[in-house]
Amino acid sequence: MLAISPKLLLALPPEIAHEVAISGLRLFGRLPWRAQPYTCGKRTLFGCEFANPIGLAAGLDKDAIAVAGLARLGFGFVEVGTVTPRAQPGNPRPRLFRLPEHQALINRMGFNNQGVLAMVRRLDALRRRDQLAGTIIGANLGKNKDTPLAEAARDYTLCMEHLHPLVDYFTLNLSSPNTPGLRQLQHGDELSKLLYEVKEMQQRLGQGGAVTPLLLKVAPDLGDEDIERIAEQIVAHELDGLIATNTTLDRGIVAEHRLSDEAGGLSGAPLTSASRCIVQKFRRILPAELPIIGVGGISNVDEAQAMLNAGANLIQIYTSFIFKGPNLVRSLAQNIA
Ligand SMILES: Cc1cc2nc3c(=O)[nH]c(=O)nc-3n(C[C@H](O)[C@H](O)[C@H](O)COP(=O)(O)O)c2cc1C
Repeated sequence: MLAISPKLLLALPPEIAHEVAISGLRLFGRLPWRAQPYTCGKRTLFGCEFANPIGLAAGLDKDAIAVAGLARLGFGFVEVGTVTPRAQPGNPRPRLFRLPEHQALINRMGFNNQGVLAMVRRLDALRRRDQLAGTIIGANLGKNKDTPLAEAARDYTLCMEHLHPLVDYFTLNLSSPNTPGLRQLQHGDELSKLLYEVKEMQQRLGQGGAVTPLLLKVAPDLGDEDIERIAEQIVAHELDGLIATNTTLDRGIVAEHRLSDEAGGLSGAPLTSASRCIVQKFRRILPAELPIIGVGGISNVDEAQAMLNAGANLIQIYTSFIFKGPNLVRSLAQNIA
């Protein structure tokens, strides 16, 4: 991967570039020494020790194929997934678009993944080989496209059961815009019912051992009332943290772009202030000790610092990593307070 420059990858069609990068990172992960995160800005949150506050956001390594290679780039944490109980192909291609003028992407991947058992096999092998020296691993969980919303909780709890001994935290992804109806689960009784069931599973799996922290990932397209209701539910169900935000459906900033009408979620620079604003609003109403991971359009030290100042305890990147490459990880990890 390090031999493959971001410029070369950006010359390839987006999804081919993604596949080449994942293959390169998988090989990079096979090098014999253990992957070491940068150790600057250490912090302990929801019981996990983070060597630095910079994480890779979900969606890049959906199947945990390249975890060791990604860890070698120095991330403090890597979130794999979104994984669903059963393998599914996702939406038809093309489904990933670059808007370089805006340092942005539009994607409608639709949770393409090989299913939870494939992820279990890879993470199990990684743990056995003891290849990681302190990189925190999270698993981002989703529901299969053909699982009715009323049965969604079962998909999340099933993934938890399988992955429970292998990851450091779980993220409930209720905020992808590319699985029909998924975002409805962020609201009202549907949210309450789902959180009740996943919390029960978390406690059951943790009996007599370590409880795996449970985080909720939300969309940026939320009104103030939504934010208040979600915060109430997070507290009521004693979740361990929040991740804000996923991609947006809003096209305001990129409206003039020829690709702006492509369906899917927009990420990258157009999201910077919207995600920060959502983090700020949640920070004002959530208990001060409840960790928030800020994600959305962070591409340099100032933006990372601004996200932390808005109330985030950790940050994640995705789109800027695609455009700028692995050097960004070092630059962020070594320069933010
Ligand atoms: C191609 C692509 C695929 C993504 N897939 C997922 C996913 O499977 N699960 C998820 O929770 N977020 C997914 N995301 C959202 C990112 O994790 C992140 O929340 C969002 O892109 C905002 O961060 P960014 O502006 O740094 O990219 C995806 C984003 C992109 C660009």
